[in-house]
Amino acid sequence: MKKIAILTSGGDAPGMNAAIRSAAKFAFYQGLEVFGVRRGYKGMVDNDIFKMTSSDVSGIIDRGGTVLLSARLPEFKDPEVRKIAADNLKAHKIQGLIVIGGDGSFRGADLLFKEHGIKVIGIPGTIDNDIIGTDFTIGYDTTLNIIIEAMVRLRDTATSHERTYLVEVMGRDAGDLALYASLAAGGDGFFIPEAKDSIQDIAGVIKERRAAGKLHDIILVSEGVGSAYEIGKELTKIVDTELRITVLGHIQRGGSPSAFDRVLATKMGAKAVKELMAGESGMMICSESNKITTKFIDYAWNGIVDNTQKRKDIELAHILTR
Ligand code: ADP
Ligand code: F6P
Repeated sequence: MKKIAILTSGGDAPGMNAAIRSAAKFAFYQGLEVFGVRRGYKGMVDNDIFKMTSSDVSGIIDRGGTVLLSARLPEFKDPEVRKIAADNLKAHKIQGLIVIGGDGSFRGADLLFKEHGIKVIGIPGTIDNDIIGTDFTIGYDTTLNIIIEAMVRLRDTATSHERTYLVEVMGRDAGDLALYASLAAGGDGFFIPEAKDSIQDIAGVIKERRAAGKLHDIILVSEGVGSAYEIGKELTKIVDTELRITVLGHIQRGGSPSAFDRVLATKMGAKAVKELMAGESGMMICSESNKITTKFIDYAWNGIVDNTQKRKDIELAHILTR
């Protein structure tokens, strides 16, 4: 293994730059040539591939987003398109590829390996924390902290006006951001895909809490359950409260990564290079019980979902919101 490439794909996540930096610096240290691919698979197809130097990764550890840019390319599901991309990599004599992204990006990587023999290693980078096999994905912790900060700000104004706030957060089909923000910031209720709380249930909680003297409610809505506006409409039919909606949107995805994400990304970046140098392929880097491990990349979509701890945490969060 003499030449490797790095790309970021799918939704960007804070900490992706820290992973790029660590992978590149570790590879330079090992005497490898490193190429950057701009805009994920789009850049592979467009041959937007450049040789990286240490100056490309200098001063980026604290920057959110991704210096390699990111994109979604639905056409990458087409084998003909993947062949163009693989041929471009081969023309640069690139033998190994590090893909930083979510499970969709990993599927593309897996196919590049199976169809064209390019050695691939996936690094989980998404704010959603929705990749099976790893406890944490890069970007999740930073986003969680952004949500918590927003909740604290909202609580001040919610209390002053004795209002109920519905705060819609990202996460696709995973409720992690909403659930753990609720636990971390003392949320007053949550709607997440993994729990079956109905609008009636939450309305009941609001009524009880108000009767006990509470002046505000901050309720998290995970985007996977639907729009906070729709939920709000139903909620105000049942409970008499002054309601406001805040959709945090892409604010959640920007800004400097947390220390946790920087360290996670740094460890994962170096581990990905180590795996390529050891001749491995078709693997993803995971964080399990504070250890950096590897799993077959298809574990991200074929693996066993272990929600044991999450179910306990949901139960606890339920109790604490009452
Ligand atoms: P994420 O990687 O965050 O899950 P997406 O699901 O949007 O984000 O996937 C990112 C990109 O990965 C897609 O735009 C596409 O280029 C590629 N991709 C996703 N799914 C597949 C697939 N089944 N086969 C090949 N490439 C895929
Ligand atoms: O996967 C990351 C994510 O931010 C999701 O939480 C969200 O549903 C989606 O991407 C938003 O995508 P876009 O940036 O294309 O609006």
